[in-house]
This record gives sequence, C-alpha cells and structure tokens, in this order.
Amino acid sequence: MSNPTLELSKEEMRKIGYQTIDTLVEHFSSIPEQQPVKNASRRSMDWLLNEGIPEQETPAEEVLQYVKDKVLTNVALTTHPRFYSFVPSPNNYMSVIADTLASGYNVFSGAWAPSPAAAELELVMINWLLKLFGFPVREGGGLFVSGGSMANVIGLSMARGMKTAGKLENATVYFSDQTHSSVDRALLLLGFDKQQIRKISCNSDFQLSVDALKEAVDADRKAGKQPICVVGNAGTTNTGAVDPLHKLSLFCRQENLWFHVDAAYGGGAILCPQGQKILEGIEMADSITVDPHKWMYQPYEIGCILVRNHEWLSQTYRMNPEYLQDVKGNAEEVNFYDYGVQLTRRFRALKLYMSIKTFGLNSFREAVNHNFQLADQTQRWLESLAHWDIVSPAQLAVINFRYNPKDFNLSDIQLNELNHYISSKIIESAQAMLVTTVLKGKTVLRMCLINPRTTLADVKASIKQLEGYAQDFLHQS
Ligand SMILES: Cc1ncc(COP(=O)(O)O)c(C=O)c1O
Repeated sequence: MSNPTLELSKEEMRKIGYQTIDTLVEHFSSIPEQQPVKNASRRSMDWLLNEGIPEQETPAEEVLQYVKDKVLTNVALTTHPRFYSFVPSPNNYMSVIADTLASGYNVFSGAWAPSPAAAELELVMINWLLKLFGFPVREGGGLFVSGGSMANVIGLSMARGMKTAGKLENATVYFSDQTHSSVDRALLLLGFDKQQIRKISCNSDFQLSVDALKEAVDADRKAGKQPICVVGNAGTTNTGAVDPLHKLSLFCRQENLWFHVDAAYGGGAILCPQGQKILEGIEMADSITVDPHKWMYQPYEIGCILVRNHEWLSQTYRMNPEYLQDVKGNAEEVNFYDYGVQLTRRFRALKLYMSIKTFGLNSFREAVNHNFQLADQTQRWLESLAHWDIVSPAQLAVINFRYNPKDFNLSDIQLNELNHYISSKIIESAQAMLVTTVLKGKTVLRMCLINPRTTLADVKASIKQLEGYAQDFLHQS
C-alpha cells in the first residue's frame, strides 16, 4: 500500500490532530511535574531510535505514539521552571497554535504578492518592536529571522556594506570579550579574518569600557586600519551585563562607526520600566538584534533584526533576479526577501502577534517584571545563607554565584571542583538544569531566571539540593 498524494481523510486528520492537541495540552499543564533534564548517551539513543527508511505506510496514530513515547520523552524542557541554564525558552501555548497555523497554511512570507496579509502583519510586528525600542517607525525597519545568530549576521553585514565600500581588508570591528560567540561567527562568515576582530577586555562589571575602546580605535587608525563597527551588548550571556550604550552610541557617531547592539538576550527587558532604564541609549544604535524566542516567551525560531533605516537592509540584500520580476510590486509593498538572506521564509510574525494580542502586552510586561524581581529575591536569599558567594549580582535576571564553605578554607581550584561537582549532580538528578560558567577564572553557577512560571520556592528547592551535594563533596574529600 502507498499514498502518493500524501493525504489523510478528514476523519484521519481530525483524529490525529485532536490527539496531537491533547498531547500538547497535557504537556503544557504538567510541565512543573516533569523533569527538565533528559540525560541520554548517543549509544542509548541509537538503540532507541535508529531505524531504516520505512518504504511502507505506518498508521499515523502509531507514528504519533512512537514520537510521544520515544522522542518527546528524551528532550530537555527548556520551558521548565527549573531549567535555569543557557537562555531558557519559556514559550506560550498561543504561539504554539500560531506556529501550527503558519505551518498548516504553509504561508510564504518571502514576498508581498503571495501573502500580503503575512507581509503586513510582519510590518506591524516590526513597527511594534521599533516603537518599543525607540527607533524611528517611519524610516526604521527590520525582519524576523531564525534567531539571534542570524540577526547578528544581518546587522553586521549592513555594517560591512555601509562602511567599507567593498574594501574589507583593513576594516576592524570592536566588542568586549563577553560578547556572544555568534558575533565572531558572523564576522568570519562575512569574510573578516581573526586579525580584524578586536576583543576588548571588560571592566570589573563585565562591560566594555569606552576609554579602552577609544584607545583601540585610535591605535588602529594610526596603524592605517579602518575601524567600521562597534558591537555593544544589551545583556551578555554570562552575566546579563549591559555595555554603556549611550556613551558607546555617542562615540560611534563621533567616529563614524556603525553601532550594532546585541540585545538577543536582554532585549525583552525593554518591556518594563526597570529594563528601559538599564537599556537607555539602545535607541541610538544603527541596528539591534532582538530574539523573541528568548525573553519574549516565543517558541523557537524567531529572532529579529531592527534597523534605524529600512533602506540599509534593501541596499545590502536586494538582488532583482528576472524570475521575480512579476512579484516585485510597488515600493510600498515590502518583499522581505529583499531584506535578508532567505527567500522562502516561514510566517514567524504570526506567533508574536497571536500571543501579544491574546495575553496583552501588559501581561508580557508583568512577566518580565516578575523575572527581575525573582532574580533580586534569589540574590537576597543567597546572601542570607552562610556559604554562598555572589560572584556577579542579579542583572537582567541573570545571577552568578558559587558555594564557598568558609570554614574549609578551600583554594580557588578546589572551589572550582566543588562547584562543578554540585552542578553535575543536580543535572544528573534531572531535577534542575544548572550548568556552570567561568568568570575571572572562577567556576560559578549561572542562573538565568526568565521563566515567568519559576517561583522563589523552585529556586530555594534547587539551592537546598545543591547544598546537599556540597556536603557530600566535602565529606568525600
Ligand atoms: C547575547 C546573545 N547573542 C546571540 C545569541 C544567539 O542567539 P540564537 O541562539 O537565537 O541564535 C545568544 C544566545 O544565547 C545570546 O545570548
């Protein structure tokens, strides 16, 4: 038997569709009771999942059951309240529904002509974001991309195009040593080599110092280099540090440098007054990376590049091939394929739209506010306990700390070992995802508290669990 039109009957579609929705509803309503971590080796996954290509049909329900039992049970839950690591992705159900609709209708979001409402909705969403970030709405522009990494590629490609006039060999780019590796990767992809990248050591608050930047730019100009761009951080991945955006933007304007801000992590903070204050100056950037699949509670994949002048995007990316002559339309009808790398694009704007419309922006603002408060409460809780050091205080809902039993007088190397140990134990327990990072040579536990469903009780329970492992470590050694 085969099914060469790849169709299901209405009945079959309904059946499998309802079962899928039931699966999702069960999942969403039981996330806190599930385990955030799934530990499995390559060998065990090969054993579980590796199979030959099935030439023959399998009933849809059987396929769904297999996926439920064997695949979805073996993926980490980045949406879980005790998933504290990397940048968690606490998504929302309405956006999941939106993604389903976008896939179901298979909306082509590359050009105006085939999907005018999708293009318009993307413009509306971009305008909402431009407004929130204080960019000019009329001249400004942007587009949705797969994530922060791709948004950085687009931002930096504009910097290259607008500032080098095609001569790349002397161009230099500046950013702090706390900048996300996607910026290095974007530059390498865009044809820069490592000698053109200036990574400037941070100050003690993990921020780029304007004086150090000025020194580096001056030295390069004297050596015949062509400084073209500064990347500022609005929330570093390690500590949530925000570079002095206002000062950096003034410096860039004075020196005729492109100012790109990577707000992939911290951009969501713009939704609450505390965050707006911290991000002051972001509105003066030339381009901003925002990543709604992080602190705007969207499911993967939705990143965004915002730009002060939308023409910079089309000047960088417009190609005009003959086979797209008939869909070009007029200048008002935006073809997003002219703005970025992808021609065929999924309808990412829909999930942002449907979730903000359903819950209201105010709910998002309160969620972000909760995250700020939770990080502050976590810091106060740790400070009230005997053996925890705050290594980097709560900033944009990220906090770094380490266990340091004062009576034991441990060396830094022993403390690093101890903190590695307690992190690995809590992950092994599958009760919480909490990996370490390294700050100034110290191994620390890094908690990123952007889940609006995480409570102080969750955090306290995880800290208590870590303390138990620390006691084990101390008694073993
Ligand atoms: C500051 C920063 N920039 C860029 C990225 C890359 O974003 P994505 O993973 O969405 O490509 C991240 C990811 O964590 C990040 O934290």
